[in-house]
Amino acid sequence: MHAAISSGHDRCKTTIDNYPPTTMPIPYGRQTLDEDDVSAVVEVLRGDWLTQGPGVGAFEEAFAAACEAPYAVAFSSGTAALHAAAHVAGIGGDDELLTSAITFAASANCGAYAGATPTFADIDPATWNISAQTVAAALTPATRAVVAVHFAGLPAPVAAIRATVGDSVRIVEDAAHALGARTPAGPVGACVHSDMAVFSLHPVKAITSGEGGMVTTREERLAARLRVFRTHGIAGAAAREAAPAGRWWQQGRWYHEQRELGFNYRLTDIQSALGRSQLRKLERFIARRNELAMRYRELLGGIEQLELAPAAPPGERHAYHLFVVRHRAGAAARRRLYDGLRERGINAQVHYLPVYLHPWYRRTYGYGEGLCPQAERYYAGCLSLPCFPALSDAEQERVVEAVRELV
Ligand SMILES: Cc1ncc(COP(=O)(O)O)c(C=O)c1O
Repeated sequence: MHAAISSGHDRCKTTIDNYPPTTMPIPYGRQTLDEDDVSAVVEVLRGDWLTQGPGVGAFEEAFAAACEAPYAVAFSSGTAALHAAAHVAGIGGDDELLTSAITFAASANCGAYAGATPTFADIDPATWNISAQTVAAALTPATRAVVAVHFAGLPAPVAAIRATVGDSVRIVEDAAHALGARTPAGPVGACVHSDMAVFSLHPVKAITSGEGGMVTTREERLAARLRVFRTHGIAGAAAREAAPAGRWWQQGRWYHEQRELGFNYRLTDIQSALGRSQLRKLERFIARRNELAMRYRELLGGIEQLELAPAAPPGERHAYHLFVVRHRAGAAARRRLYDGLRERGINAQVHYLPVYLHPWYRRTYGYGEGLCPQAERYYAGCLSLPCFPALSDAEQERVVEAVRELV
């Protein structure tokens, strides 16, 4: 990777090559790789371990350090990580898991996997995140967990949500969009006010391992349970240590036992090598995403029909996984903008349909329109413009010109 800091008109600028080069239309997001990443993966292929070996632990350690959390546990995807977090949060049965209406379905599905009922808080129209107020309005005596989504990479107000729900409700941060974001309490993932934070390492995210996920936590007991859950619910060394001396069938170094119903949710050493190599570039990637967002603000700021993505308040850092604009004229105008961009080779995307409006949610829980009015208003006009480290200034200008022409 070539990451030159050259002086622009009035400020430093991060330049990141588009590698591997692509002839595809400009996507809303994509991976940014370099030869170091390729070498890191190839090195694993020449070694002894392919699936979970020492590389996973090394990646977890580096990830925990980046988040300033004592523990990080790797998973095969962010979805698997959310499932594990919901499981070790101890929810099920008659419990409710409360999350944002505007998120990827996985934030809510993890509640359903654990046998609980997913419920939804509306978004604050100023941040497009849930707030302490919207959480309070949706809270019931059955709420056992809140999945606080840092939508688009802007930190949700976790400290205020903790103050609202108290200590008896588990808070899981869905930080799939927010690796590299910061609050005055530290990096997202430090879990100062939450129980766990969940990350995704899918190629459109801040860094990638191909597919992958991570959970950070400050609780050793939760970390241990997460590790058991990702390996079929099977404990090895811990089981041997705990085995009473008298039981002959529990003795021997081969012995392991299944303690609960888990899954194979392991990340591989191949993926971990890529993730660890990518993690070293996180700061540069987030700096470039912030530059792109600032340029969008400068270049699109004068268009009255567009509301631009909320910026981070002073003292916080946005990770800009997405740069979203909202067409104030609503669904038909947004549709014309989306279609017009596609015709011009720009694949913008819509994030997200309010989760409760998916057919499975309507059918299973009886949800329908009107549950979260701000989320529905947002959805009618939202569009994520291309925003990823390797997007060049020239490509961004092409996007801006097309948007100006179409709106
Ligand atoms: C907010 C959010 N949560 C969870 C996930 C799930 O992550 P993964 O795709 O790694 O399973 C995603 C992925 O897009 C997401 O955007």
